[in-house]
Amino acid sequence: MTVLSDFVVVSNRLPVDRTDDENEPWRRSPGGLVAALDPVMRSNSGAWVGWPGQPDVALEPFEFDGLRLVPVELSSDDVQLYYEGFSNDTIWPLYHDVIATPTYHRTWWDAYVKVNERFAAAASEHAAEGATVWVHDYQLQLVPKMLRELRPDLTIGYFHHIPFPAYGIYAQLPWRKQVLEGLLGADVIGFQRVADAGNFARAVRRQLGYDTKAGSIAVPTEDGVRTAIARAYPISIDASVYDDLARRPEIRARAAEIRESLGNPKAILLGVDRLDYTKGIGHRLKAYGELLNDGRLSVHDVILVQVASPSRERVQTYMELRDEIELAVGRINGDSDELGFSAIQYLHHSYPREEMVALYLAADVMLVTALRDGMNLVAKEYVASRVDGGGALVLSEFTGAADELTQAIKVNPHDIAGLKDAIMQAIEMPEKEGNRRMRALRRRVRENDVARWSQRFLTDLDAIRRARA
Ligand code: G6P
Repeated sequence: MTVLSDFVVVSNRLPVDRTDDENEPWRRSPGGLVAALDPVMRSNSGAWVGWPGQPDVALEPFEFDGLRLVPVELSSDDVQLYYEGFSNDTIWPLYHDVIATPTYHRTWWDAYVKVNERFAAAASEHAAEGATVWVHDYQLQLVPKMLRELRPDLTIGYFHHIPFPAYGIYAQLPWRKQVLEGLLGADVIGFQRVADAGNFARAVRRQLGYDTKAGSIAVPTEDGVRTAIARAYPISIDASVYDDLARRPEIRARAAEIRESLGNPKAILLGVDRLDYTKGIGHRLKAYGELLNDGRLSVHDVILVQVASPSRERVQTYMELRDEIELAVGRINGDSDELGFSAIQYLHHSYPREEMVALYLAADVMLVTALRDGMNLVAKEYVASRVDGGGALVLSEFTGAADELTQAIKVNPHDIAGLKDAIMQAIEMPEKEGNRRMRALRRRVRENDVARWSQRFLTDLDAIRRARA
């Protein structure tokens, strides 16, 4: 018999990773979302609907570490057309200001509709009467409307983790009306930045002609009008986890070991990204390579550690990006390295959270140069880990995080000269100024943590539920 839940989370991926270990086939993925929703899930006998991350895996719902997980199966065709195709080769580039060219295929759209229907059906099957369902991210934009049609009794929230583009860009999407209608099935539609919520409201006015006012949208229904809310709820991390880890003696020792192994340079620069064209890794490398070439930096004094975790490796644009980045790294190292001194240490891996915190502690300067990014949680992780008050953050103004982390050194990553100056400013920043900035950054990340984010969103959603009851 299906167990019904009062609170259901729906996201493309389940919050667990499949492992190769027979004795422990699943491991909780370290994402902040799970931690944020954990208390709500437990107190409401919650369920999580999502894809287990591999094609053609058919699994019954199961309990894991106190979470009820409802796997949704995707065939290899679904993975190709819905996930790699429409989600990551149409919507992803379009919503990130067409940094890469979006591809529009009707077969991808058809698969997107079909898979969204499957997620909506699974959520509907596991939601109790009057339950709250929280749908996440761009892979599932049609689920809110589909779910409302299946289950008008539900209260539905949707959170968009990536940017929502300006109307002139959004208007390219051949299915622009359907996507807006899909999202408007939710009672609360959350965005990272005020600008994203504004872009969405404008698209709704222009495409559907609905009235929007201060984040409220009048959605016509069969028997009148329903109000949907579109507002900014900037996401964050569980700052205390990073703070605690960074205070552990073994992690501090590991940070010292990392510095030692890199030859104790005067400055360690760090980049940590999914290997994605939105992250501006190439711009960062160009600026750094020029600084070495100009003689403003020397491989005797400085090293850049670039962690680039593998991502969406079967999508053509990502394959090309990898070649481009690895070519650039090879060139810079070839031009600048000396025996025993390397310009860039490039790591195409992902690492456990403990190792990342040690790396954050070891790095003097964190470089976040995204060309467009919904939030950028790496910037927040770095700040939360700097319990010593040290370190400097260079932050692209095109990230959601830039709206909050105002004490970072802001950059326009397209302006290579400006980016070079910003890197130098970070390296040469007087300790006192650096500490003052880091204190302010840390205060912000501590105050607006992921628990506060989910609480703000769910409070607004609950207000709608109560108003309707
Ligand atoms: C971004 C998206 C997430 C996505 C993640 C990893 O942060 O907002 O929805 O899960 O990237 O990408 P992947 O395609 O591996 O799930």
